Amino acid sequence: MKKLFAIAAVAAMAMPLFAADGAAVFASKCAMCHGADGTKTIAAMHITPIDTPAVKKLGAAGLTVIVANGEPPMPAFEGRLCYADISAVVQHVLALK
Ligand code: HEC
Repeated sequence: MKKLFAIAAVAAMAMPLFAADGAAVFASKCAMCHGADGTKTIAAMHITPIDTPAVKKLGAAGLTVIVANGEPPMPAFEGRLCYADISAVVQHVLALK
């Protein structure tokens, strides 16, 4: 019984490391520039809302390229985020409304 509990506890602690959470990634890596819901505008940085049909039209593939390579002054996230996190945050952007 004790052993089972220990295994469950370890599994629960390990979860956040493996379950990519797009909303959490967006909140910690993107929201400072794009706003919590992707609607922020920062004229001086050419930041416009990203919850738009134009951005959704880029699709998962197009958004993955933008997030991975960046679009100066937006930083590239390849190497700062693992592939699962990039994929999760892209899905989050596609679901913004
Ligand atoms: C340091 C500020 C900054 C951060 C952090 C940032 N961005 Fe950006 N983002 C920008 C800027 C600036 C642009 C506009 C670039 C341009 O002028 O083309 C942009 C553009 C975009 C676009 C629109 C691209 C297009 O061509 O329409 C998307 C989508 C986007 N960012 C997603 C993200 C995601 C997802 C994250 C988090 C992983 C993120 N950004 C983090 C600054 C940032």
